Amino acid sequence: MTDRASTGAARARRYEDILVVTIDHPPVNALSAAVRADLAAAVRDAQADPQVRAIVLAGAGRNFIAGADIREFGKPPQPPALPDVCNQIEASAKPVVAVLHGAALGGGLEVALAAHYRIALPGARLGLPEVTLGLLPGAGGTQRAPRLMGAPAALDLMLSGKHLSADEALKAGLVDALAGESDALDAGLAYARQLLAMRAGPRRTRDAGAALADRPAALAAVDAAADRVAKTARGLFSPARIVEAVRAAIELPFDEGLRAERALFLQCLDSPQRAGLVHAFFAERETSKIPGLEQARPRRVERVGIVGGGTMGAGIAVSVLDAGLPVVMVEQDDAALERGRARVAQVYDLLAGKGRISADERAARLARFTGATGYDALADADLIVEAVYEDMDAKLAVFAQLDRVAKPGAVLATNTSYLDVDRIAAATRGPADVLGLHFFSPANVMKLLEVVVGSHTAPDTAATGFEFARRLRKIPVRAGVCDGFIGNRILATYRQAADMMMEDGASPYDIDAAVRAFGYPMGPYQMMDLAGGDIGWATRKRRAPTRDPALRYVQIADRLCERGWFGQKTGRGYYLYPDGARQGQPDPEVLAIVDAERARAGVSPRAFTQEEIQRRYLAAMINEAANVLREGVALRPSDIDVVAVSGYGFPRHRGGPLHYADSVGLPGILADLREYAKEDPAFWSPSPLLVELADAGRDFASLNRAA
Ligand code: CAA
Repeated sequence: MTDRASTGAARARRYEDILVVTIDHPPVNALSAAVRADLAAAVRDAQADPQVRAIVLAGAGRNFIAGADIREFGKPPQPPALPDVCNQIEASAKPVVAVLHGAALGGGLEVALAAHYRIALPGARLGLPEVTLGLLPGAGGTQRAPRLMGAPAALDLMLSGKHLSADEALKAGLVDALAGESDALDAGLAYARQLLAMRAGPRRTRDAGAALADRPAALAAVDAAADRVAKTARGLFSPARIVEAVRAAIELPFDEGLRAERALFLQCLDSPQRAGLVHAFFAERETSKIPGLEQARPRRVERVGIVGGGTMGAGIAVSVLDAGLPVVMVEQDDAALERGRARVAQVYDLLAGKGRISADERAARLARFTGATGYDALADADLIVEAVYEDMDAKLAVFAQLDRVAKPGAVLATNTSYLDVDRIAAATRGPADVLGLHFFSPANVMKLLEVVVGSHTAPDTAATGFEFARRLRKIPVRAGVCDGFIGNRILATYRQAADMMMEDGASPYDIDAAVRAFGYPMGPYQMMDLAGGDIGWATRKRRAPTRDPALRYVQIADRLCERGWFGQKTGRGYYLYPDGARQGQPDPEVLAIVDAERARAGVSPRAFTQEEIQRRYLAAMINEAANVLREGVALRPSDIDVVAVSGYGFPRHRGGPLHYADSVGLPGILADLREYAKEDPAFWSPSPLLVELADAGRDFASLNRAA
């Protein structure tokens, strides 16, 4: 064994006649300019070194290579370009083996595809997830993957962004062998020795043709994918380009295909969607970095209590059971507890029925569930989530009980959407142990978790909330106490803007269509029908006594609720759902009610273009988001973006409302708000923060950097 010059980001070391190039660039071995340069230099030098007969590419730490360095996107490109490095690897006159462990994603997998042989360790995850960042595999992946796995599987991999396990990758033809060894270096050396013993030479993916031999079938798969993308990719830019790049892989010679891929990649790189999706990627990873909590140690959570077995309580229970923790659910009587237990079992029955979990997993998760009708069962819980209905008195009564039974140091969480966490905490002797954990429905599916930190919440209580979210595989966002926290408070404002437009002349169907055209999966009225109009009605009634009479109040929703039209569950709401249909139909009676309300309010209806609907909806959202930020309810603009994207359907490719605001320019948003404020100054008054930023020529991103 001889050392070669250690080159930092990728170091080369010779083991007899095999050169091992180890990419060592924490945290995930992303292909930064330094890594690319070192990798290229090591492979180049190896060609001239008579002592080297084979090259092994491996990753240090937990991953092979997680992909291109996403932080470099949007900055001036630095040589060597990754496609050139990949081509150089493929051109090597000596066999190159890539040994894959942990993440081999994006550009990382492309490096491996350019190598001549690939082996994967157990636990490796292979994928081309560029589509999730608004990109396509731009270092030969669209040309090489189809040559190894065929067009349909390659298209599926690239259009879904999914990860394959080592086994799946072997079956798909992406890797040649699975390593029995758990050490990448040992596995790579053993495989390379085997190849040398067999006198195996370079085997270039560019020359592999069998998987694309049936050209008409491959082109038919491309056409089918193009159709699918046109129907399902709702305005996304990169999926159609991925399909075109794969078409080029079939129709063009390899080098021309690479050039076509490059041109399509650069289009994606320049697109605002790429910027929005990359923003969303980093924003999600930023949310748990909380100034002041760096030193706080989360408390140990081994047993979880849940009070309430309704939809939320059961969903939270499933989420906790999925994370491998035991759950004790407390309900007020046997019948309610049985319903709670049945809800939990129903989720697992569904998952098992769809083959998502095995019968054994279903049984193991349910075995961690116990139920009780008395609070004493919560005496050894480390964290208790109260998930009873949204009523202050009900919650105060629960917390009085929790205060009695919880062990010292247990964290007490309220799953409230709107209510004052400080008041709830005050019902206990230990408000420092209390926080809000606002789950979103269905709680076992939705990624977002607002961690509401009250004025007395201790740092280690808050840290426990974040750690708990991590174990539940949720995205935690810190929120301060206010009515609705981050998400529901902003939602209330843009819904109000929608209601005002409805009363002023836009139909609910026009508004839903405009919001969908912006990229939301559904509009606000479809959403209300899905969630159930009664929930919002109860909140409006609760707020009625404190409502500012100077603010405009649109009563259309109340008229529907008074008729018992709560949406899908009652067969009608803003839409009609005949025979339990999930897709609603416009309802002429709703339009008549809207007309009557306009007349009652003395409004002469006017026309709204789709663009105006979108501008008003977003201006209201951005303005309230600025207020939420200014008041410290949210810590940083990107946290608000995460809430909107992961909890409220804001189109991810637009990054979130504040990234979107930056991309269109704050002066334009401010001008809209000032224009609208002429008709209703109370509602449209611009947030002082927005004014301050626009006047100073700054954007919201500058506050992210400062946070
Ligand atoms: N570039 C730069 N930084 C990256 C990165 C990348 N490709 N991938 C992850 N990171 C950073 C994260 O931002 C995070 O940084 P902080 O600690 O400062 O927040 C850190 O690495 C750890 O990441 P995670 O918190 O996500 O760690 P994890 O263990 O939960 O997950 C992972 C690891 C599966 C690799 C995940 O980070 C991931 O999916 N990364 C992105 C993979 C990807 O999309 N690759 C394709 C890139 S595009 C491309 O390659 C284009 C091309 O064709 C050339």
